[in-house]
Amino acid sequence: MYGMVNNAVRGLVIERYGDSGWATVHTQAGAPANFAPMEPYGDEITYALVGSIVKSFNADAAVLLHELGVYWIDKIATVHYAEMLSATGTTFVGFVKNLDHMHARIRVNFPSYQPPSFRVLVLPDQRLQVDYYSDRPGLMPFVEGLFAALARHFKQRLVIEPVADDTHGMPCKRLLMTVEPLSL
Ligand code: HEM
Repeated sequence: MYGMVNNAVRGLVIERYGDSGWATVHTQAGAPANFAPMEPYGDEITYALVGSIVKSFNADAAVLLHELGVYWIDKIATVHYAEMLSATGTTFVGFVKNLDHMHARIRVNFPSYQPPSFRVLVLPDQRLQVDYYSDRPGLMPFVEGLFAALARHFKQRLVIEPVADDTHGMPCKRLLMTVEPLSL
């Protein structure tokens, strides 16, 4: 993944465990201390960093990935990409429907990247069915953290229900989402 993703992992670790925590994590993962944000790195580096955090701090991998999703929205996307976020959508549902379009538009900056893809369907009961397509295993808790923080950004309350893989025949991970105004 591009260096900016690994730098987000680094930012989260430094926020939680300080510089010495990061030194432990990247050394144990055999990864550099810093990443060039616009350069691609092998996915195994990102997975090794996550594995190293889990081991070093006895963290739960799913909780950590969820927190990383929240960190990406709260500390990176809304701070450094605010314009892109508002151009992509002004409501949570509108934004999620445009996510593929957004990742496609920034391909020019990340020529060799492999962004995920999200197919969105509004069900008759108004729940959202979101299908997440990716070649990378195990990132569902990251995706849930991203959506949870995005909903808060749009001042909406989100309830996510994961759908078991064997209930649909699609090569994706499926989520059902109920979106309501935060004041409800
Ligand atoms: C705000 C600006 C954003 C930028 C600049 C951005 C950019 C990127 C980049 C560079 C990657 C790494 C892909 C690679 O190196 O092959 C990535 C991955 C990813 N992005 Fe985005 N992204 C943004 C917002 C979002 C949002 C809002 C979501 C979802 C709610 C999202 C979902 C993901 C996921 C799940 C991945 C992991 C890769 C995978 O699942 O295969 N991104 N993004």
